[in-house]
Amino acid sequence: MINLILFGPPGSGKGTQAQKLIAKYKLVHISTGDLFRYEMGNDTPLGREAKAFIAKGELVPDSVTIGMLRNKVEAHPDAHGFIFDGFPRTIAQAEALDALLEEKGTSVTALVALQVDDEEIIERIKLRGETSGRADDSDETIIRNRIAVYKNETSPVYDFYATKGISQSIDGIGGIDEIFERLSAAVDRMASIAKV
Ligand code: C5P
Ligand code: MG
Repeated sequence: MINLILFGPPGSGKGTQAQKLIAKYKLVHISTGDLFRYEMGNDTPLGREAKAFIAKGELVPDSVTIGMLRNKVEAHPDAHGFIFDGFPRTIAQAEALDALLEEKGTSVTALVALQVDDEEIIERIKLRGETSGRADDSDETIIRNRIAVYKNETSPVYDFYATKGISQSIDGIGGIDEIFERLSAAVDRMASIAKV
């Protein structure tokens, strides 16, 4: 099984690259951001709970996000592996993910981070906001808060997996196919080290 964490700040291209990776590696894509947007769109209790946090660019509480993630993983018992996109975003989420995968007799194969600088990210997210309909993509104050949250709460997750020797950073600037080549090379290298 290959279990990949696709990491990087908001707007770094995780969703775009995940679409290409699932085709190549036959993995199940789990984007916690997409799951929250689906719940909000259907005005479910979970969606209503998440909404206030997302509107401000804050993180939804770990217990909520972890429960949702677990349900999604358990809905795919025959998966060849998963791409976690936008999760884990805190150390507590990383610990919960490790425990969940261990229960299933597997583990995180690699964390691959897309590196993109702040100014490029802000431009990309604003551009996406013109068509995504996402309120959190359209307000620069919220975008900057999401970047701050990433730096403070999420970036330690990179180090958490680096101490296990499975974090890898790649240049996230360039064409979509060019970045995908770098990403695939990193995944192949990490998978061969992990002997999966
Ligand atoms: O991953 P994405 O950028 O699409 O997430 C959008 C928003 O959903 C985040 O800014 C955050 O408010 C919320 N979120 C979260 N915890 C996660 C994933 C997303 O709180 N693990
Ligand atoms: Mg995304």
